Amino acid sequence: MAMAFEVREPGLRRGRPCEPCVMVIFGAAGDLARGDLVPSLYELHRKGLLPERFAAIGFSRSRWDSARYRDEMCRAVRESCGSSREWDGFASRLSFVSGDASAPGDYAALARAIETVRSELGIPGNVFFHLAVPPNLFPAIVENLGASGLARADDGWRRLVVEKPFGRDRESARDLDRRLREVFGEDQIYRIDHFLGKETVQNMLVFRFANPSFEPVWNRNFIDHVQITVAEDIGIGTRANFYEQTGIVRDMVQNHVLHLLCLAALEPPVRFDADSLRNETAKVLDAIVPPPLEDGATPVRGQYGEGVVDGGKVAGYRAEDGVPPGSTTPTYAAMRLTIDNWRWADVPFYLRTGKRMPRKLTEVAIQFKPTPHAMFGQPQGRPRYRSVLAFELQPDEGIVQDVAAKQPGPDLEVQPVRMVFRYAEAFGVEEPPRAYAWLLLDVMQGDQTLFARADWIDKAWQIVDPIVQRWESEPPARFPNYAAGTAGPAEATELLAREGRRWREL
Ligand SMILES: NC(=O)c1ccc[n+]([C@@H]2O[C@H](COP(=O)([O-])OP(=O)(O)OC[C@H]3O[C@@H](n4cnc5c(N)ncnc54)[C@H](OP(=O)(O)O)[C@@H]3O)[C@@H](O)[C@H]2O)c1
Repeated sequence: MAMAFEVREPGLRRGRPCEPCVMVIFGAAGDLARGDLVPSLYELHRKGLLPERFAAIGFSRSRWDSARYRDEMCRAVRESCGSSREWDGFASRLSFVSGDASAPGDYAALARAIETVRSELGIPGNVFFHLAVPPNLFPAIVENLGASGLARADDGWRRLVVEKPFGRDRESARDLDRRLREVFGEDQIYRIDHFLGKETVQNMLVFRFANPSFEPVWNRNFIDHVQITVAEDIGIGTRANFYEQTGIVRDMVQNHVLHLLCLAALEPPVRFDADSLRNETAKVLDAIVPPPLEDGATPVRGQYGEGVVDGGKVAGYRAEDGVPPGSTTPTYAAMRLTIDNWRWADVPFYLRTGKRMPRKLTEVAIQFKPTPHAMFGQPQGRPRYRSVLAFELQPDEGIVQDVAAKQPGPDLEVQPVRMVFRYAEAFGVEEPPRAYAWLLLDVMQGDQTLFARADWIDKAWQIVDPIVQRWESEPPARFPNYAAGTAGPAEATELLAREGRRWREL
């Protein structure tokens, strides 16, 4: 059964305008630029959210000129957004510089291109650099930006957007941070995790802190446990090289999954601003008890074998292009974490993330404790009623609450009812803007609230480093251990079953 929420003020709010600025996209020919960055800018343009005086300059080694770049991006936008209406107005904001980001000599051409668009459009010295390149290039680019003078602003601001992964362990993340900080200050660095730009992620905070009925029950007295799922139905595609060096914990747990946990668990910040929110998220990480690593304990790792996804047969991880046949890289992880503070002591947070799961789903599900006794006379052995509140981030953004209700009729029969709130439907926006769009606007507005601070990254690595090290030093006993299209290895089911719980259906 489903119930829809009514919304009084439908539509998209415009928000405050951004200052005129120039965006430089390093890695302008890559997947991220084609699939997310440029389509997000295009969406912002169409919704009238980009500053009127705005230009984006693509930079990569491809021997393109600006006309070719616009053609390439037009194709990318059509693929990603399904249409390229109003393209010409948007295309006039794009230009391209061909160059090698690791070659200091190629920055003079970039500087000239920035000056050209600034003087043509009357843009003050506001420039942000988005590093959509392989992470090994991050330090060289920042060094070159510093040496070429491009990182310095005499009449405006300079900002730096850094993609994940931020380091591959605590030590390398610290080293990277040190190198970035030689040129940019912490208040200029935007470490991006696009999950945080999702409407539902922010709504998790609004839901908790703007509805007085939720906060009083948001603790160990009323919540039995929390499940966080980041499941993908896709495999690794053409990214074998990246994935072999990364694996699921570095790729998903260190950033997305832990971020979601922090947002579900943090204390009410004094204000909704960057410092207050980031202080509270850092405190959650501080209180996390690292999972035990002795034999048989959590975490659980997995790798997919061949199987069936969406009705089609798919290869196992070891048979993917570019993956060595004996690879021990995990494509699935599940773990139980606890947060040692007053609010959450003894409440398990179960996290799972994997590739080639039965479907794409990202959600944070709060499982409340059951009713204290069986007042409605359920037969012996039937579970008592409990409600579940799930924040869904992907594929549809929304909030779902399962509660118990009486089935109409002469008998007192209690049935689960599902209350469903979907963003797109409820607010009457065709589709919520993609997460990257909001985050790019935040960069233009100088709002770091939804970006990771250096200490957050450091603590997150501190939690996951021991897991990765243990797994890398001890090859798995049996890989692959789950078939593509299934919900993960049996050990993950067991992880909850031994505490009398089970995962939500995927
Ligand atoms: N794709 C995603 O969904 C995604 C999601 C989250 C984070 N990220 C992160 O975003 C970054 C980019 O990912 P991606 O998937 O877009 O990678 P990609 O498809 O391999 O693209 C990399 C881009 O960098 C350019 N490039 C490489 N070496 C260069 C150099 N020396 N000088 C100038 N340009 C250079 C490449 O173009 P040329 O060959 O023309 O130089 C290409 O445009 C990575 O750090 C990745 O971890 C990606």
